[in-house]
Amino acid sequence: MATKSTNITRVEHGVSIEERARRNGHKGGVLWFTGLSGAGKSTLAVALEKLLFEKGYNSYVLDGDNVRHGLNANLGFSPEDRAENIRRVGETAALFQRAGMLAITSFISPYRSDRDRARAAAGDGFHEIYVKADVETCKQRDPKGLYKKAIAGEIKEFTGISAPYEEPDSPNLVIDTAETPLEECLETLVNYVERNFRV
Ligand code: PPS
Repeated sequence: MATKSTNITRVEHGVSIEERARRNGHKGGVLWFTGLSGAGKSTLAVALEKLLFEKGYNSYVLDGDNVRHGLNANLGFSPEDRAENIRRVGETAALFQRAGMLAITSFISPYRSDRDRARAAAGDGFHEIYVKADVETCKQRDPKGLYKKAIAGEIKEFTGISAPYEEPDSPNLVIDTAETPLEECLETLVNYVERNFRV
């Protein structure tokens, strides 16, 4: 989105990205989880955050349900509102990255163009992680009873039922929760972080 403000000048920081990484023992970055409701994004994000915390990482989960209670409380689920949701979260995650932290974002983020914009905000530190489970599996899990309501027509524009989900073209990592036990998914994720962010 083009800025509407005029007469603004960027302020340079006195602490470099490298200095922050050296002090923290890891680089900042964005682990962008995308996938259907019920695919396991939040479960994995929260468990990963805890494991990384225990290993000394500064990481923080930004979760759709949580962020929609505060920062994005004025947004619904139309394509335009989802785009604005993801735009704000993408910018927020990029700020976390610049602060030297690992942002773990857990949003359906169903549109490729929105995810591409979030990647552009963060740059090289952005890692797209496809938390994959097919609609049938998610319908069967239905942890919040939302699929049942969506099929009954009680929730409009529900992803996978009455709104689209565009699969990532070339994600950095695919975590297939329909086929893989939780512990194994977590091990893959922790190893991925250690390989890509430790300094
Ligand atoms: S999006 O598409 O990225 O803007 O969505 P997100 O911010 O991740 O919010 C998804 C959570 O909102 C609940 N919910 C819905 N999801 C999809 N479609 C519709 N219409 C909808 N209405 C409510 C649902 O709890 C989602 O959480 P998860 O954790 O994905 O199940």
